[in-house]
Amino acid sequence: MTTHAKPPSKNVHLLRWVNKMAALCKPEAIHWVDGSQEEYDALCAGLVEAGTFIKLDQQKWPGCFLARSDAGDVARVEERTFICSLSKEAAGPTNNWVNPYEMRRTLRRLFDGCMQGRTMYVLAYSMGPIGSPMAQIGVQLTDSPYAVVNMRIMARIGLPVFQEIDRADKRVVPCMHTVGAPLKPGQADVPWPCNPEKYIVHFPETREIWSYGSGYGGNALLGKKCFALRIASAMARDEGWMAEHMLILGVQNPEGQKTYVAAAFPSACGKTNFAMLIPPPAYQQKGWKVWTVGDDIAWIKPDAQGRLRAINPEAGFFGVAPGTGHKTNPNAMAALATNTIFTNVALTDDNGVWWEGMTDEPPAHAIDWQGREWTPALAREKGVKAAHPNARFTTPARQCPTMDPDWEKPEGVPISALIFGGRRASVMPLIYQAFNWSAGVYVGATMGSEMTAAAAGTVGQVRRDPMAMRPFCGYNMGDYFRHWVNMQRKLTETPRIFHVNWFRKDADGKFLWPGFGENMRILQWIVNRACGRALGRETPIGWQPSYDDLDWTGLDFPREKFDALQKVDRAAWRREVLDHEELFLDLHSHLPKEMVYERELLVCRL
Ligand code: OXD
Ligand code: MN
Repeated sequence: MTTHAKPPSKNVHLLRWVNKMAALCKPEAIHWVDGSQEEYDALCAGLVEAGTFIKLDQQKWPGCFLARSDAGDVARVEERTFICSLSKEAAGPTNNWVNPYEMRRTLRRLFDGCMQGRTMYVLAYSMGPIGSPMAQIGVQLTDSPYAVVNMRIMARIGLPVFQEIDRADKRVVPCMHTVGAPLKPGQADVPWPCNPEKYIVHFPETREIWSYGSGYGGNALLGKKCFALRIASAMARDEGWMAEHMLILGVQNPEGQKTYVAAAFPSACGKTNFAMLIPPPAYQQKGWKVWTVGDDIAWIKPDAQGRLRAINPEAGFFGVAPGTGHKTNPNAMAALATNTIFTNVALTDDNGVWWEGMTDEPPAHAIDWQGREWTPALAREKGVKAAHPNARFTTPARQCPTMDPDWEKPEGVPISALIFGGRRASVMPLIYQAFNWSAGVYVGATMGSEMTAAAAGTVGQVRRDPMAMRPFCGYNMGDYFRHWVNMQRKLTETPRIFHVNWFRKDADGKFLWPGFGENMRILQWIVNRACGRALGRETPIGWQPSYDDLDWTGLDFPREKFDALQKVDRAAWRREVLDHEELFLDLHSHLPKEMVYERELLVCRL
């Protein structure tokens, strides 16, 4: 076995663990990842040579590469994701559970020799700015150079993190990852090695992650969903903070005051677009501006004054490409123009990339995400997509023009409002505010959304996705609701809680709301409400703005259409509440009483 560089850490626990895992996985070499640009460039060159990466035209797309995954490895695999707590009860009914002793036996069998013929990378990473009191450290052992280069964009990695491990003697989350495709001597590799059998396993009590068989984002970049949400949610419960599937943004008003909000939407429901919102021209002229702190994950903690503060634990965006375009999200387009890894988008004839929604006009010809010829006619006649619906861009956050000057502040930014939202064609109005914290927790707990392509499953079906955390909560969802309810006791200032739905449709199936930059009008009401500066009308479900409470400058939006968008249909809501009851029945043994009371109050008001 060869080793690239000396271990850059003296931590005996770390060295012992790496040796033990190497003995299990039997890699051909060990590479301690230093995180440097030279190392990144060399790894990318190796990926090009292996056929995993295609180097794009470097004039038009400097520092950018395209990867095409295996057609069976394109999304998170929720049914193969396990929370192996000591008891099944602790994982709860929304998680897959296997007895941890049994799972460890399975993993030992699967990992035995799994890295044969490959290099094992020792990838130390920090979720959160290095040295931030809210940051956490993980070390991922992986045989995927694709995972290493993506993680270099998504997290702070390498030597400074090893130094932090040695300096702070911090507890480190061990993360094992293999694509599960050992190479026999002389056997040729494939561009995207993976295994049809997949296991994404979490041991919340021992804070461990084991991922087998997939090289795709959420299953392979273990700092993201596995650590920053599933393991971190369990840590947060034990330590009195919150790990949430939320974007963070700051709204600056014409007086220069900035108000930060965090918002939870399920995967592929526009979190990245909302985090990078550009206000309509009339708002810009008045001096409104939106600043980006994060687009996917928020770690939120009460500070010494009892105010919630949030950090974005990530350093990059792993955004959904389809639907991202110069019209819908110019900030994301500016960010991804350089130093970006694209996965499963189409390759254009001039060695660039394209995906549905990037431009109005598709290219006349391209190579689709599976490497096949593609033309607009194929799309029209056979519905063939050029990019996979869950195609992604991995982009450094610092390249986004609207990054908040404080986005890496170690103590985080103060949070004044929390927003929940789903993709709902009916029932849910455009905007309402919960009456108080406990009613707001109920709003988040009962969130529903139509499923998207971010996870393998039935696209379009409405499922309950509490706080957008259903696939990401590392413990019993009922206990998670209780944690939310209890958080209020630690606070001197309680953030206001809102629910939005950009996706309501009319009887003809057309979206009622233009969305994107126009969401600023709703955001303005939200921050003004949070600061006690806006009026609301009491309705059975919460406070709603009236038409005249919003600023419509520059948008011709009829009052009747707004009323249709905001309608609270009592009969539909009574059916909706029955659906809430189904979720609550599943969680009954762990459901906090507050949720039952809130439901009763809602039913009475309806
Ligand atoms: C993501 C997801 O990748 O939620 O952010 O699937
Ligand atoms: Mn997400």
